[in-house]
Amino acid sequence: MLVTGAGGQLGHALLEAFPSARGLTRAEWDVTQPPPPGLAADLVLHTAAWTDVDGAEDDPQGAAAVNVGGVQHAASLGVPLVVWSTDYVFDGTKREPYVESDAASPLGAYGRTKLHGEAAAGETAWVVRSSWLFGPTSRNFVRTMLRLGAERDEVAVGVHQP
Ligand SMILES: NC(=O)c1ccc[n+]([C@@H]2O[C@H](COP(=O)([O-])OP(=O)(O)OC[C@H]3O[C@@H](n4cnc5c(N)ncnc54)[C@H](OP(=O)(O)O)[C@@H]3O)[C@@H](O)[C@H]2O)c1
Repeated sequence: MLVTGAGGQLGHALLEAFPSARGLTRAEWDVTQPPPPGLAADLVLHTAAWTDVDGAEDDPQGAAAVNVGGVQHAASLGVPLVVWSTDYVFDGTKREPYVESDAASPLGAYGRTKLHGEAAAGETAWVVRSSWLFGPTSRNFVRTMLRLGAERDEVAVGVHQP
């Protein structure tokens, strides 16, 4: 089992859950490039991604190189593939929970790259559209709230209503 993005939040957690898996950091495989020669696996858990939502607006091509090109390269290994996508593929106007068959309509560059990345994964891949990830490492909502809660008496949290 191969885990890309081994230095990231999800990659780190997956490697803890599957200690026999082989993790690859960006230094070991920059996924904007084809897989290193001889790399083989029975299953790829592809967590490497451009996750800077605002940064994707500034550099949509850079984000696409990772989120679309990277998935293409992972799929080129020709083995079962799991990729992680996002609720940013939707525009957020639906007033009920989204289901798999709802039409995607991303509003920003990050969501567009993730949607194209889903397509690049191929029809046999598993695609997980998560809204949030929380873990003990990296930047996430829970860690941010814990940090702000330790610094301030009150924490104001904005809710985006499109
Ligand atoms: N975090 C969330 O709340 C959330 C919500 C929904 C979906 N997702 C999706 O879940 C997946 C995992 O997210 P995460 O929170 O684990 O992200 P993360 O902590 O930002 O980790 C992403 C990893 O990808 C690596 N990476 C970036 N560009 C790369 C490249 N060109 N080649 C190889 N590795 C590269 C990063 O390496 P560097 O550290 O060197 O940049 C980092 O280790 C992503 O597909 C993300 O879109 C996340």
